[in-house]
Amino acid sequence: MENSITMIDNRTGKKYDFPIMYGTYPTYGAAIRAADLRQIKVSEDDFGLLSYDVGFLNTASCQSAITFIDGEKGILRYRGYPIEELATKASYHEVAYLLLHGELPKADQLKEWTQKINYHALIHENMKKFMDGFLYDAHPMGILVSTVAALSTLYPQARNINDANVRKLQMYRLIAKMPTIAAFAYRHSIGMPYVYPDTELSYTGNFLYMMFRRMEIKYQPNPVLERALDVLFILHADHEQNCSANAMRSVGSSLPDPYVSIAAAAAALYGPLHGGANEQVLRMLREIGNINNVPAYIKRAKSGELRLMGFGHRVYKNYDPRAKILKKMAEEVFEVTGKNELLDLALELERIALEDDYFIKRKLYPNVDFYSGIIYQAMNFPVTMFPVLFAIPRTVGWLAQWEEMMNDPEQKIARPRQVYTGADCRSFVPLEERE
Ligand SMILES: CC(C)(COP(=O)(O)OP(=O)(O)OC[C@H]1O[C@@H](n2cnc3c(N)ncnc32)[C@H](O)[C@@H]1OP(=O)(O)O)[C@@H](O)C(=O)NCCC(=O)NCCS
Repeated sequence: MENSITMIDNRTGKKYDFPIMYGTYPTYGAAIRAADLRQIKVSEDDFGLLSYDVGFLNTASCQSAITFIDGEKGILRYRGYPIEELATKASYHEVAYLLLHGELPKADQLKEWTQKINYHALIHENMKKFMDGFLYDAHPMGILVSTVAALSTLYPQARNINDANVRKLQMYRLIAKMPTIAAFAYRHSIGMPYVYPDTELSYTGNFLYMMFRRMEIKYQPNPVLERALDVLFILHADHEQNCSANAMRSVGSSLPDPYVSIAAAAAALYGPLHGGANEQVLRMLREIGNINNVPAYIKRAKSGELRLMGFGHRVYKNYDPRAKILKKMAEEVFEVTGKNELLDLALELERIALEDDYFIKRKLYPNVDFYSGIIYQAMNFPVTMFPVLFAIPRTVGWLAQWEEMMNDPEQKIARPRQVYTGADCRSFVPLEERE
């Protein structure tokens, strides 16, 4: 058989041929079906061989045509388009449309898309009351996760997820309402009145408006910062099968409405090893405090006492292409906002780490979170909003992954196996007889 692999089970001497499946690239992502391994048995009543892969280090959980990453070469593409081109030539709305539909929108399609998103930007007044219930110092990511889940109660028809039109409507709603909920969560935390969306502004311009408007009659977002945020949103829009996308697919596979699945994905994003990392980068830079303290801090990271936040990636074993774009963009933002004093510290940390054997050997490079936090801070976003700023644009990625899963004829409920290591069967011991 061509394009197959032969395995010999040394326990039985039996030989097995398994077909190899390929995606777009024959040298990237070739796989065998793990279920084929079940044919490998030592006896008739043997369940069959499992593949063991904690953390999915080498497991393809789906076939996907959305995002391509070659981590060794530092390549990221959405629907085939290099991230560098999208970040310099496209708007976030175009990229969101591209991720969901597979093709860039024509002018009339983009117009309709933008109108639809604008139309759904308001949130139900009840949601405001719901958000009011949180303590004034509640983390905005906690508010976001809970409020998105609560949207599920407002749209009971959203449970009809086998209807493509119903799915589409929820997608418009989610993409439109995430910035509103995010900005309201922030305003709640500082005790400022909520600012309703202004749909004459762009997606990111409106978000800046809802976040930062005070007493101005007409708040005008700074165009450089508005574009910078648009680029940040493009860079964060999708990243194939990461922890939160996997949560979206995994929860979505039991077929609930998308609001609770998005809440689950956002919860996965919240962790410091994923979308919470940019918040941790800022805390780390503040803790280091001074350029002179960088070598000692790196020493602690090398001893295993701590990790350099914003460094390392499961997939990238090269400079994260998104970090490259952001490093350059930081300069443009600082021309408007003034320089963030943490930048020098970050540059020094990066310089020393990239020359160090420990980081070179493990292929640990700055990831997207390393520079995004510094830029967000210069733009006046509080640190607690950083993971929220990740969740807003990633919503479209989660939805694209979900839609793809819903249309996948192979789709099944996500339900991994285990290698059981507990006690063998034993008899119950009554309470009075237990030693
Ligand atoms: C992203 C991350 C979770 C990937 O983890 P992973 O693929 O499971 O990699 P591992 O945890 O197996 O790390 C491999 C080795 O590199 C080391 N390492 C990984 N990231 C490190 C970091 N940020 N600082 C110091 N050492 C690090 C590990 O200690 C391990 O060393 P060892 O082989 O001597 O035990 C990890 O690099 C990390 O924790 N980074 C910091 C958090 C972060 O920036 N997350 C954002 C991702 S976009």
